[in-house]
Amino acid sequence: MNIHKDSFSNGQIDSKLWLCRELEKLEWTSDLTHVYAGWYGILSFLLLSREKFKVGRIESFDIDPSCEPAADMINENWVFKDWQFKAFTLDCNQGVRGSPDLIINTSTEHFDSMEWFDRIPAGTRVILQGNNMPHDDHCVHSSSLEQFSQTYPLAEIAYQGELFFTYPDWEFTRFMVIGVK
Ligand SMILES: C[S@@+](CC[C@H](N)C(=O)[O-])C[C@H]1O[C@@H](n2cnc3c(N)ncnc32)[C@H](O)[C@@H]1O
Repeated sequence: MNIHKDSFSNGQIDSKLWLCRELEKLEWTSDLTHVYAGWYGILSFLLLSREKFKVGRIESFDIDPSCEPAADMINENWVFKDWQFKAFTLDCNQGVRGSPDLIINTSTEHFDSMEWFDRIPAGTRVILQGNNMPHDDHCVHSSSLEQFSQTYPLAEIAYQGELFFTYPDWEFTRFMVIGVK
């Protein structure tokens, strides 16, 4: 099993801890949460480990088939507990089955179309992250929080903010919007 070490980098983990903290402050509960492009399921691991966000089940979807066994392994403690977590291999642009009351996508910059967002029913709670990182793998570049939130228009916004990361040779800003589509 080959897990990309960037998934544990400061820029990835602190962004996900930021999401956990802001979601927990809202005191939302969820019967079923979907994570789009969930990679190795590390966000799910953090949310479930912190035991603050009350969620019945998390399903994580990624188009890359190598992510499913890795995410299930990392979240084995909850796979074991009546499938409180499960990863699936799926292109989220093709539609995701089920009736989640919360959809999280921290990989918006990796999507080559808006189909995944357009398919989310109005009234669904969402948490979205993006960034201003110039990267060959990125399809969407947001230069500001305002531009990021305009790309994914929501009916209600419960939280929006940005987190700045600075390193000796580069820097970037992560954007996050939490609300109701
Ligand atoms: C580099 S990773 C995640 C980076 C991100 N900042 C995060 O929050 O973890 C991006 C993931 O998006 C997935 N992905 C890209 N397009 C997708 C799609 N259409 N459906 C599902 N997953 C997709 C890739 O397979 C990859 O695992």
